[in-house]
Amino acid sequence: MQNFTSFTDFSEAQSLINLALKYKKDPFLDKHLGRGKRIGLIFLNPSLRTRISTQLAASNLGMEPIVLNMDKDGWALEMKEGAIMNKNTVEHIKDAAAVLGSYFDILAIRAFPSLTDKSQDVDEYIFTQFLKFTGKPIISLESATRHPLQSLADMVTIKENAQEKRPKVVLTWAPHIKAIPHAVANSFCEWALGCDYDLTVTHPEGYELDEQFTAGATITHDQDEALKDADFVYVKNWSAFNDYGKILHAGEDWILDEQKLANSPNAKVMHCLPVRRNLELSDEILDGKRSLVQEQANNRIYAAQAVISEILNTQA
Ligand code: CP
Repeated sequence: MQNFTSFTDFSEAQSLINLALKYKKDPFLDKHLGRGKRIGLIFLNPSLRTRISTQLAASNLGMEPIVLNMDKDGWALEMKEGAIMNKNTVEHIKDAAAVLGSYFDILAIRAFPSLTDKSQDVDEYIFTQFLKFTGKPIISLESATRHPLQSLADMVTIKENAQEKRPKVVLTWAPHIKAIPHAVANSFCEWALGCDYDLTVTHPEGYELDEQFTAGATITHDQDEALKDADFVYVKNWSAFNDYGKILHAGEDWILDEQKLANSPNAKVMHCLPVRRNLELSDEILDGKRSLVQEQANNRIYAAQAVISEILNTQA
């Protein structure tokens, strides 16, 4: 594996899931694999889980992780090719990316979308610049359109908890007060469908996701119908994609609570965190037996470890 930025195919996904489960059983199995190597974790946006879990994953492999909060500690980056830099930006992405590439064996980048410039976001403009100028393997810590490390951890969590081979998995839109990116929802669809799960996506009218991620899923505006007999319910907000980055309405009645799961006695509930309690999801679910959110967060370590390990093995 050279880069890890999206789902590739079923067999690679299955082997990453199995490797993550192997590392979960024995985190220090390959404790010398990354000896003498460094991974740079570059954040253009905030993070708790992705930052710490990827650091732990690298450490488990004997690799040194170094974090740069580019948004706070780095120079203001110019992204535009050919820009005359006589305003607020101090360093061009092509210079910064090349320098970082020379310091590290692997680079991992978090770069959220603008949610204002649709074509730049859909084209993964910032990510593409890093891919172009670092010359080193790149791991996505969440890009404008995808969050593959989260999805891999989610697939590990589903595999651990599934009672049947092809569970019914529901992605349900949740209310929020801010315009939220599509990356987690897109990636979850991409991976759930790629792993051949029976996926239903439910959301209010106007919140259709990009079809390239949902093709093959059942899509409905009827949340009650969607939730019936679900095995896994993934709760997530996202802003409109067609009316790009907009909050169309509050949608408070889309909160997931126990009442909504009356016809889904076995449903386990997932969320990538951070979660807005009692807005997206009720306390009773988050603190109850259905919740897998802490397992998902824990599995982030082993998902990242599997990916880093695959890349190190390619470099060896
Ligand atoms: N789920 C997730 O990516 O969490 P952070 O934003 O805290 O890294």
